[in-house]
Amino acid sequence: MTTIVETKELTQRYGGTTALSSLSLQIPQGAVYGFIGPNGAGKTTTMRILTTLLLPSSGEAWVAGNSVVRDRAAVRRSVGFMPDFFGVYEAMKSWEYLDFFAASYDIPTARRPKLIDDLLALVDLSHKRDAEVMGLSRGMKQRLSLARTMLHDPALLILDEPASGLDPRARVELRELLKELRSMGKTIMISSHILTELAEMSTHIGIIERGHLLASGDVATIMRSLQPHRTFAVHLLSDLAEAADLARGAPHVLDVRLLPEGEPPQIEIDVDGDDHAAGELLARLVQGGAIVTHFAGQVNDLEDIFMRVTQGSAYGGTN
Ligand SMILES: Nc1ncnc2c1ncn2[C@@H]1O[C@H](COP(=O)(O)OP(=O)(O)O)[C@@H](O)[C@H]1O
Ligand SMILES: [Mg+2]
Repeated sequence: MTTIVETKELTQRYGGTTALSSLSLQIPQGAVYGFIGPNGAGKTTTMRILTTLLLPSSGEAWVAGNSVVRDRAAVRRSVGFMPDFFGVYEAMKSWEYLDFFAASYDIPTARRPKLIDDLLALVDLSHKRDAEVMGLSRGMKQRLSLARTMLHDPALLILDEPASGLDPRARVELRELLKELRSMGKTIMISSHILTELAEMSTHIGIIERGHLLASGDVATIMRSLQPHRTFAVHLLSDLAEAADLARGAPHVLDVRLLPEGEPPQIEIDVDGDDHAAGELLARLVQGGAIVTHFAGQVNDLEDIFMRVTQGSAYGGTN
C-alpha cells in the first residue's frame, strides 16, 4: 500500500494558540479519507499546510513523497484544493472560470477547450457551460469549484467541508461525484464537522479535536479499536438475577448489569465476541430457563463512537 499523504508531528501555533499539536497521520493512495472534527479542531489548518498555503510551525508533511516545506512546487502539482468558501470570480461564465484557472496552471490554450468540456461533463455541468457563475446554485458552484481543482489532474484532492450548506439532493450528487473520482484513481481527503456526512463514503477516517488526532485509520479498524465490545439489552419475564448468573458463566461475556428499574426490567450484557457468541449466549439463557422477550445488540455506529471519543478528550478522559 502506497502512502500519498504523511504528516509527522505537525504543529501549528497562531500567537499563543496551538491549532495543531504533533499531528501524525497517513493516508494511503486511493483512499477517501474523512477528516472529522468540531469547528476549530484544526482541519482547515492541516489542509492549508498540506496544500503549501501555510508553513507549519514545526513538524513535517509529505504529499506524494514531496515535502510541503522543501518541495512546494512539486506538492502543488500533485494536489487540488477546494477551500471551504467559493472564490469571488462570479462575473464569469462557467467555462471562462475554468479557462481562467487553466491559464494560471499554464495549460496550453489549444488543450483547454476539450479539457474544460470534459471536466464540465464530469461534474455534470455541461448544460451550464455558458451560464454566469453568479446564477448557479450552491451545489453547482461546489461542483464547478471541484472541476477547477481537477484542471491539472492532481493525484490528491483536498476538499474542505464541501458538503456544508448543500441541500440533501446536492449532497447525494456530491457523494456520487466523489465515488466517480475515486474510481478514476484519485485519493480524496475531505473534511466535515458532521460525521454522518462522511461516514458512508469514507474508506478511512481521522478524528481531530482541539488540534489533537484522536484516531486515524481504516473505518473497520477504528470501529473495532474504539468499540472493544458490544452491549446487549435483554428483556425478561423471569428473574433478572437468575438470568444474570446464567450470562456470567457464558464465554465472551465481560460484564452483566441488572436494571430492575428498567422499562421493562432488563439486564445488560457486554459481549466481547461476534454474532455466534451472541447466539450462544441467547441459547444458554433460554436453555437455563430464562424467559426472554427481547434480545438486541445496541448499535454503536460511527456517530456514537465519534461522540464517545470526542467527549473523552473534552473531559480529559483516556480513549
Ligand atoms: N489565521 C489564524 N490566526 C489565528 N488563529 C487561527 C487562524 N486560523 C485558525 N486559527 C485558530 O486555529 C484553530 C483551528 O482552526 P481551523 O484549522 O480553522 O479549524 P477547523 O477547520 O477544524 O474548524 C482554531 O482555534 C482557530 O480559531
Ligand atoms: Mg475549517
